Amino acid sequence: MLSQIEAVRIEIENDLAAVDSSAAVEAFRLKHLVKKGTLQGLIDQLRAVPKEEKPAIGKALNVLRSFVDSEFERLRTTYAQTSTVTPIDLSLPARGTQAGSVHPITQTLDRIVDIFSSMGFDVAEGPDVEDDARNFSKLNFAEDHPARDMQDTFFVNAADRNDLLLRTHTSSVQVRVMESTKPPIRCIMPGRVYRNEAVSARSLAEFHQVEGLYIDKGVTMADLKGTIMAFARRFYDENAKFRFRTSYFPFTEPSAEVDMSCFLCHGEGCRVCKHTGWLEIAGCGMVHPNVLTACGIDPEEYSGFAFGFGVERVVMMLTGIDDIRLLYENDLRVLKQF
Ligand code: DAH
Repeated sequence: MLSQIEAVRIEIENDLAAVDSSAAVEAFRLKHLVKKGTLQGLIDQLRAVPKEEKPAIGKALNVLRSFVDSEFERLRTTYAQTSTVTPIDLSLPARGTQAGSVHPITQTLDRIVDIFSSMGFDVAEGPDVEDDARNFSKLNFAEDHPARDMQDTFFVNAADRNDLLLRTHTSSVQVRVMESTKPPIRCIMPGRVYRNEAVSARSLAEFHQVEGLYIDKGVTMADLKGTIMAFARRFYDENAKFRFRTSYFPFTEPSAEVDMSCFLCHGEGCRVCKHTGWLEIAGCGMVHPNVLTACGIDPEEYSGFAFGFGVERVVMMLTGIDDIRLLYENDLRVLKQF
């Protein structure tokens, strides 16, 4: 029996020496340490051993047993630590998903549309590639008006015609609406416009405008002023003051530019209003009779007003962004602030 115990000891030592993974640790356990394993096999034989030999054999078995137990425990911890399976920590907080956000130009356009909608204005759109007639001629621009110059306008190369261009203002959509709609007309026309400009902190070759148009019987300059002031009070500052300065646009007569007291400093003078206390917010005027006639509306029966303004400038005033290019670079560090 003692020699049998010695044989098992040698086998176990060899097996222990060969263990090199957590799978091998498990194989060792199944071979030697379970109920039907080698060690228990020896212990079961102890019953049949003569009484006087029992103490010596029992002792030898105990020595082997505690040796195997401690070696097995050592290997089990060694291979558990180097296991390639990373335990999952179910208590860790989840990694958040990154949601996009609405671009500040779109946010601004949405607010503008909301306010005019609540005042009864529809929204109309027109094509970015426009013809000379709707961008210029029907808006009462003279044949030799400098805005038509190649220096200012992107003309489009088309095989069969030479009067196509990228619209330089959303006033072209006014023409389309008047051509196709019988007054009363009350709508705003947001959209992209294009000008042959050098790109700088203050100007881009592509930007957005919102145009407004109201045509009905008996519309006067008072309606124009009331509408623009109502919009600006809701959009910028409910206590704003206004001044209408005379100006010139070919498509309106009389024409004006609208200034509003600065919504930031309320007239004291600050960086946003360039220390003048005033912000220029729109061009406007009464639609020129020539324009009404060119678009099929009788100026003896109807009158109306129009206005227009640039959206990027509005976003810059409201956000304090002082380089227009930042609005087009899609840098998340900028966009995430709005
Ligand atoms: N079309 C003008 C521009 O691009 C803006 C404008 C001014 C539109 C006066 C109007 C208006 O309808 O009445 O600068």
